[in-house]
Amino acid sequence: MCLEKARAWINQASSIAVLTGAGISAESGIPTFRGTAGLWKQFRPEDRATPHAFARNPETVWEWYDWRRSLISQAQPNAGHLALAELERSTPRFALITQNVDGLHQRAGSHNLLEVHGSIWKLRCTKCHREWHDQTVPLMLPPHCECGALARPGVVWFGEALPRDLWSSAEDATAASDVFLVVGTSAAVYPAAGLIHLARASGAKVVELNTEETAISAEVDCTLLGPAGEILPQLLNPNAQT
Ligand code: APR
Repeated sequence: MCLEKARAWINQASSIAVLTGAGISAESGIPTFRGTAGLWKQFRPEDRATPHAFARNPETVWEWYDWRRSLISQAQPNAGHLALAELERSTPRFALITQNVDGLHQRAGSHNLLEVHGSIWKLRCTKCHREWHDQTVPLMLPPHCECGALARPGVVWFGEALPRDLWSSAEDATAASDVFLVVGTSAAVYPAAGLIHLARASGAKVVELNTEETAISAEVDCTLLGPAGEILPQLLNPNAQT
């Protein structure tokens, strides 16, 4: 029922926006944050992902991000990432809004990608704010800018604002969408989770994909329960071999 309905909405849609979270990369071997073996079960966010933690102990924070970079560098985009890249190619207006910093959507071939929490492959100077890409694994820690100042990971930490232009593009794409897909997120972190409410308020059909019910399941038009790497190909390519 839900699968057929969602397929029909997607086939009729001229504008689709997607919000993804850590769950879409789980099948690529990257831990989520709040799942059973999630990162926040092993580490305290206030010790790893805040400006204060970095000010207090940049080495510890960098060692953690370098560990995550090495994990991600060994991972491949999965069928879920690839199905969304395919959907972009067949949809007139499409935007992929991701909370993930792993870069797997890009590697899967997604183009209209809004990385609202930044990228683990970007570094930013703490003094001149220059930002650059660096895929070196492992990094020489702690990395420094050519101006000599300490560099920080190019991600958005708790308590920090999201990049303004990028965020307003995400809001515009959401408000203009006929169908809004919510894939692999616990919808617990704002403002990203707020896009789900904006999509509903703008009249979009909201379809959630997750291995379990979440904080927004009661509010969406339908929830598809299962791994994104299995459900997305089925949803987006009915002839896909299950
Ligand atoms: N397919 C689909 N969903 C999955 C899968 C899978 N294979 N595996 C796990 N999930 C679901 C979980 O049930 C959970 O609802 O993915 C969700 C992951 O939730 P979180 O770990 O909370 O990650 P996310 O929602 O992306 O976190 C949001 O919080 O920690 C910060 O900045 C960080 O961007 C992150 C933000």
